[in-house]
Amino acid sequence: MTAPGRSLPPDRQPADRQPTDRQAAGRRPGDLAGAPALLERHVRTPAETAALGAALAAIARPGDLFCLQGGLGSGKTVLARGFVRALAGAGIEVPSPTFNIVLTYPAAAATLWHFDLYRVADADELWELGLEEAFADGISLVEWPERLGDAAPAQALWLELRPVTGAAGPPVVAPDSMDGGNTGGDGMAAELRQIIVRGGAAWAARLREAGLV
Ligand SMILES: Nc1ncnc2c1ncn2[C@@H]1O[C@H](COP(=O)(O)OP(=O)(O)OP(=O)(O)O)[C@@H](O)[C@H]1O
Ligand SMILES: [Mg+2]
Repeated sequence: MTAPGRSLPPDRQPADRQPTDRQAAGRRPGDLAGAPALLERHVRTPAETAALGAALAAIARPGDLFCLQGGLGSGKTVLARGFVRALAGAGIEVPSPTFNIVLTYPAAAATLWHFDLYRVADADELWELGLEEAFADGISLVEWPERLGDAAPAQALWLELRPVTGAAGPPVVAPDSMDGGNTGGDGMAAELRQIIVRGGAAWAARLREAGLV
């Protein structure tokens, strides 16, 4: 799904996104759908999404993998940017790895690996990106993680970002200020996102310890 008001750049046309048979046989968004959500949160602005990224960064350890699911413009890079800046420096540039596919950032805890697998056509290409090293002792953030297929480690934390429109969202509180920047003319919060977090028991414990749930 494309976020409201966002047009597709040339490399982001839906035709690019058809999974190969091999990918279709691999992990898909629904694979964890049966698992209970560890955390469900509504974020109202990009800053709130970035802040959730920073909160997760605070508990990240070498070897962790954060899978960021969601349609085009749902806020995956915004969340990753908050995460990376929390560990690598607040002033650091964190562009979308759309074209590079992977960008790395040095941090005290570990090297941060930010992947955007949108343009990865075949699972064989994955390993040329440094996945093995990233998953072994780096901290990895992966946009379009469905492309990982069977390469996705079972202990990953999965975050699903969903733009919320119309009646699907919680009641929108009128903004205190007159800027109205977060609401459309019909009162719909254009920047509202739902973020659903899923993962195994170890993640449940870590999120609890960190006070995130
Ligand atoms: N609550 C929100 N959280 C995150 N981004 C938001 C939010 N509300 C609006 N936005 C806007 O939505 C866009 C999200 O862009 P972003 O690059 O993070 O998307 P993405 O999910 O990484 O997309 P892509 O699949 O193309 O990489 C930004 O322009 C951001 O300002
Ligand atoms: Mg992105």
